[in-house]
Amino acid sequence: MSNEPAIATSESPAYAVLPRHIGVIMDGNGRWATAQGKPRNEGHRAGVEALRRLVACAVEFEIDYLTIFSFSSENWTRPADEINAILGLMKRFIASDISKFVAHNVRVRILGRREGLTKAILQMIEQAESRTAHCTGLQLNVAFNYGGRQEIADAVRSLAQDVADGKISPEQIDESVIEQKLYTANMPDPDLIFRSSGEERLSNFLLWQSAYAEFVFFDEFWPEFNRDIFMRTLDEFSGRKRRFGGVNP
Ligand code: IPE
Ligand code: IPE
Ligand code: MG
Repeated sequence: MSNEPAIATSESPAYAVLPRHIGVIMDGNGRWATAQGKPRNEGHRAGVEALRRLVACAVEFEIDYLTIFSFSSENWTRPADEINAILGLMKRFIASDISKFVAHNVRVRILGRREGLTKAILQMIEQAESRTAHCTGLQLNVAFNYGGRQEIADAVRSLAQDVADGKISPEQIDESVIEQKLYTANMPDPDLIFRSSGEERLSNFLLWQSAYAEFVFFDEFWPEFNRDIFMRTLDEFSGRKRRFGGVNP
């Protein structure tokens, strides 16, 4: 995040419709680095800078919820040194930026499975969440060790346990009951999901929540992300006709 006061200024363009919740699949760090003849981990490092630019944009445009895909449940299949580099960068990012989050009223939540994470990572997660728990501005969700199918499977298991314990009957299970078991309980669904690097897939991100999201895919690699790309994406979103299964008014 920049150190400048992050407020919508007269220079911030107005859009017909702004998404309330944006999901971002930050992809292409490795390919960006390779294209420059650098090791992949340099791409992850540059990706953190791009992430700071993204958070600054979300604050500037007064977006309510921003959910970023930082590490998927499938990313553990990568080489150990790359995993360690990503985890180290994330730890440093949280540690160094947490006071800026507080200063900009940004609340941080980590979405994903906690079981199996190391004590150090759990501690970092708890610290980030508790230190920003009072913040009422941008709600920043970091999807870490996150998988959409895993999230739904965990919700189903928890509901099955509730039925077994007699807390709820099968007839009471509906969409809202399931939603309460997801990491995004009580948050609006993403209106817009965008992904960098030209890949046009969800890769297990927010499967349930994306039912009626608008998708924008752009070719730039994640480390190239900037305010212009953000504005282009908002522009594209604001021109979309969302029908939710109905007809245009
Ligand atoms: C996104 O960039 C970062 C993570 C998945 C952690 P990648 O590392 O996937 O970069 P590419 O897709 O291999 O270029
Ligand atoms: C999705 O990117 C996960 C994150 C951005 C954290 P991947 O690079 O892991 O996705 P695939 O493997 O190309 O689908
Ligand atoms: Mg990738």
